[in-house]
Amino acid sequence: MSNKHIEVKPVAGYIGAEISGVDLSKPLHDEAVHEIRQTLLKWKVVFFRNQHIDHAAQIAFTGRFGEVTYAHPHEDEPIEGYAEILPIDRRRFERRYGLRQGGLGRTNYNNFWHTDVTAAVNPPAGSILRAVNVPSIGGDTQWTNLVAAYEGLSAPVRALADTLKAEHRFQAGYLSANSAYAQRVAANPIVSVHPVVRVHPETGERALFVNPVFTTHLLDVSPKESQLLLELFYNQITRPAYTTRFRWNNGDIAFWDNRATAHLAPQDLDHLDVERVLYRTTIKGDVPVGVDGFRSQVVEGEVFGSDVPTALKQRIDQAKAELVVS
Ligand code: SIN
Repeated sequence: MSNKHIEVKPVAGYIGAEISGVDLSKPLHDEAVHEIRQTLLKWKVVFFRNQHIDHAAQIAFTGRFGEVTYAHPHEDEPIEGYAEILPIDRRRFERRYGLRQGGLGRTNYNNFWHTDVTAAVNPPAGSILRAVNVPSIGGDTQWTNLVAAYEGLSAPVRALADTLKAEHRFQAGYLSANSAYAQRVAANPIVSVHPVVRVHPETGERALFVNPVFTTHLLDVSPKESQLLLELFYNQITRPAYTTRFRWNNGDIAFWDNRATAHLAPQDLDHLDVERVLYRTTIKGDVPVGVDGFRSQVVEGEVFGSDVPTALKQRIDQAKAELVVS
């Protein structure tokens, strides 16, 4: 493989393409990077099969598409030497957050449709997820095309959506309020206001940019209107027509445009005693801009980039110091 050109095979009508012809353990030619970017912009999520790369190679690959962020705004146990890597590891989730009611497993920290880290004023531009130890049955991830969802609305509803703004807030509602993690999340709020329709900075396309994990309510409308309109928008973004579903094998990689997609972690593993380990990296995002030029605003928290968030840094340094002393 020369790593100069890629081959592309779309996998669904609105979203998703499989890319072959490149070996991600080796440096990519600039032309291949350009072709991957163009394919990503068109198909919103791209898949690479059978790429057995390590953390360093994943970070290097991610860095070809922008600034690699710190793992996650609330990640206070970063992997030594790889602060950019977020483990998606069910055993780790279980250790941190406990089992679900009834003693069942916990595959992910949340199992609802979402776009990554939209509580931040600059949600990641893209996310890259690498499978290392995935189960032989179940555990698929799904993605939806938020541009197709927007375009599928009727003209009057599109016109209304174009004018709306929504609050996005990092919440740990899936955990008991007295868990240590939920308390830390509550003590370090991350809240932003985004346009409901964002204009993609590279394609100019409009995307329906709300999701049931982070969006709390619409601004400037009544609570009932907010609830009903969000229900309408969530129905729209999760219509099966706009989605694709990926069956993972170890070594597979998914790369999504986080400005134009939402995704859903698996829902079919919590009752099974199986491992599931993937690693995620994210690319620093820009501040979303609405149809009328409105730029997203910080309510609480800070810009999400490669720096360790201030609130976390102190805690991580303290934990390291305690290790040295003991
Ligand atoms: C994620 O939400 O980034 C991970 C999705 C998955 O676990 O499949």
